[in-house]
Amino acid sequence: MAKPVLLITRRLPPAVEARAARDYDARLTTSDTPIPDIIARAEGAHALLCCPGDQIDAALIAALPARLKVIATFSVGYDHIDYPAAAARGIAVCNTPDVLSVTTAETALLLMLMAARRTSEGERMLRAGLWQGWAPTQLLGTGVVGRRLGIFGMGRIGRELARLARGIGMIIHYRDVVRLPLELEAGATYHDNDTTFLGACDVLSLNAPGGGSTHHWLNAERIAQLPRGAVMVNAARGSLVDDVALIAALKSGQVGSAGLDVFEGEPRLNPGYLELDNVVLLPHLGSATVETRNAMGFLALDGIDAVLTGQTPSNLVRS
Ligand code: DGY
Repeated sequence: MAKPVLLITRRLPPAVEARAARDYDARLTTSDTPIPDIIARAEGAHALLCCPGDQIDAALIAALPARLKVIATFSVGYDHIDYPAAAARGIAVCNTPDVLSVTTAETALLLMLMAARRTSEGERMLRAGLWQGWAPTQLLGTGVVGRRLGIFGMGRIGRELARLARGIGMIIHYRDVVRLPLELEAGATYHDNDTTFLGACDVLSLNAPGGGSTHHWLNAERIAQLPRGAVMVNAARGSLVDDVALIAALKSGQVGSAGLDVFEGEPRLNPGYLELDNVVLLPHLGSATVETRNAMGFLALDGIDAVLTGQTPSNLVRS
């Protein structure tokens, strides 16, 4: 019997591609950047495995073959997929929750430490041959142990970050739509409003999903409510941040330093960031470990397998 046809839009880890090729008539690519012709390549496909950066919008979904039953994304975020358009066509959408939570939380912690302790500035100084030796006032940062970490978005990744940060002695505050059950809150302080939350952030970490409800959540008005000199990090989605407002705050010192792994409109980023020393910039490395990327691929394939065999996948997106 012929295998179902699976279109994959980006080069994936070898073990994931091997499983896809074993179980499907897999249309692979060697491209690490979004392919331009998803609609043409999807002809006759039963399933689509896409990635952040692919624009799976209503027009593309409308042009997919009638027999395509599932879109799985190689990511937990699915803001690049027009979910209502897929649901309206009866196409299931799957993502990769849980398996990347610890790794992404590690990236947020890394950004926090790098930004607070000015490590990128130090490395740039060394690489430029400008270091003249140890000096008592050189590149003084701020410590994070014992400081308050405010987490905006206490989902799976936010809770992992809270766990790691508690381990290094940080005091956790969080803001979310609703308060968590006590066992998930694990001693963190809930804020039901932005004002008290922002006032409690020596370090602010954005861990909420992208999309309309969080678009430019960190704007000039909210930045003004942070303690002066606060550190902020974003390993969630660039769309949460008003870049113009953040750049102004980094220049004025209202935000002391920032660590950014994601950017609105990435891979482009606001050139203003490149001129600032007090920002650490990473190229969306949040989940980038071999083991996590394998797990993400396998989970995406699990979802496709389930939908195409008439089962309900554990990683089905429901809203
Ligand atoms: C995600 O999964 O949404 C990340 O941004 C990519 O790892």
